[in-house]
Amino acid sequence: MIRPILAGLTMAVAAIADQPTSVTFTKDVLPILQKHCQSCHRPGQVAPMPLISYQDTRPWAKAMKAAVTSRKMPPWFANTKYGHFANDRSLRQSEIDMIAAWADTGAAEGSPKDGPAPIRWPSGRWAVQPDVVMDLPAHDVPAKGVLEWELIAFPAPFKTDTWVTSMEILPGDPSVVHHICFSFEKHKPTTVYNRYEWVQVPRDSSGNPTPGNSGFGELPGMIIATRDVGSTQVNLRQGHATLHQNLDFCYLPGNTYEDYRAWNAGKLVPAGSDIIVSLHYTTNGKALVDRTKIGFTVAKTAPAKKFVVQGAGEDTPVIAPTAASSRALFASTYNPEFAIPPNKSDYRAPPMDITFLKDVEIVTLRPHAHVRGKSAQYKLVYPDGREEVVLDVPRYDFNWQLSYQTSLTIPKGTHMRFEFTYDNSANNPSNPDPNRWVYQGFQSWEEMMAPNLGFLLDRDADVGGLMSITN
Ligand code: HEC
Repeated sequence: MIRPILAGLTMAVAAIADQPTSVTFTKDVLPILQKHCQSCHRPGQVAPMPLISYQDTRPWAKAMKAAVTSRKMPPWFANTKYGHFANDRSLRQSEIDMIAAWADTGAAEGSPKDGPAPIRWPSGRWAVQPDVVMDLPAHDVPAKGVLEWELIAFPAPFKTDTWVTSMEILPGDPSVVHHICFSFEKHKPTTVYNRYEWVQVPRDSSGNPTPGNSGFGELPGMIIATRDVGSTQVNLRQGHATLHQNLDFCYLPGNTYEDYRAWNAGKLVPAGSDIIVSLHYTTNGKALVDRTKIGFTVAKTAPAKKFVVQGAGEDTPVIAPTAASSRALFASTYNPEFAIPPNKSDYRAPPMDITFLKDVEIVTLRPHAHVRGKSAQYKLVYPDGREEVVLDVPRYDFNWQLSYQTSLTIPKGTHMRFEFTYDNSANNPSNPDPNRWVYQGFQSWEEMMAPNLGFLLDRDADVGGLMSITN
């Protein structure tokens, strides 16, 4: 490992020392931008400026050097000491040195004929060009106030049994979206289409729920609200929600699509299925109308594998029924022991521990916490007692909820342990209020500990009971 790194450094240093003007945009920088930057730095994507042409890029030369040498760009949060990730987009030291050398030597353009051909990106704002697009109804988001998680059902946009091989969500206005998730399920007679449904969580004037009553789980006397698409009238009733979610896929800040094609995998959506969408808006002072689109690629022939998530949903089948306790909700449950004291900068959540009941293959690790989230770690404890950290995120960032793509073959009986920490101090720039206790809840100013996992299974394998909650 040491040799190529040294070789890269020597090359870059040589470039600066011997031929100060030989580093050019077209020959040396553009290939790096195409591979590591343009997925975000192109029109319509999340980054504020394109880095496509020389004219786009030249004014940013110094800022690029600063951003890559500090490893602020590309955004990547896994500690490089642990695990291997197929989607690791961080730069090699030689690439950082190349951008720095370019910025330090006048940021020359070079000859267009030295450069690679431009990448043909998907049209629109898509990251993956979809085969099937579904438009959600326009949704008003007011300037102020608390919007609870709203669930809504539609018929799935496929006529026949369909293997979906990628999923992507394009929110109309990402600035107000905390998450949008969806799952597919068999149509139930109780499911009504085109009607938003949510749990009315009792809140005080500052938007905080009564501890123990955060809307997680089925509490007695819960108030269910519904509203038809296109109507402003809200109907309230006591009882239980008719819609539940399993989170097959989630749009989160920094995590906009999932593509299973590299694993030759997909998700089978039987004909006649419904899609249950969970919408969560956070108001930001500006009233607007959100128009979200969902895009899918579909396979002509069934892929060899299927991709299954352990979401946060109550009926997630990968969790064994023995865990039907409050912990069965895995991550979105209300745990009375989870309580972050005011001004505590390093709160360690009650650790969570699961046991795999079968041999499993895990391909994605996606830690989810809210704005006080500080760090997240996933550790395997093998049946022989050996321990292995498989993901360490020392600086969790709510704006970059990455799905870390790994490949872990895990024998039955292995445990996985999750440790999350939280910063409720005034030093956390995202902290809306360091002076109050924080409990688990749905809103960004409440907290979560959701160590999501994605499994790869043979196409026809049974998804039931892959794991149980041990602690
Ligand atoms: C996953 C998306 C993504 C990728 C990949 C990415 N960026 Fe960015 N970049 C952003 C976003 C979003 C911002 C603005 C917000 C921020 O600074 O975090 C940004 C900001 C920047 C800035 C401005 C920083 C500042 O100080 O204002 C620079 C320079 C930059 N990126 C360079 C790069 C370079 C060079 C690469 C590739 C080596 C890259 N980025 C890859 C999303 C990305």
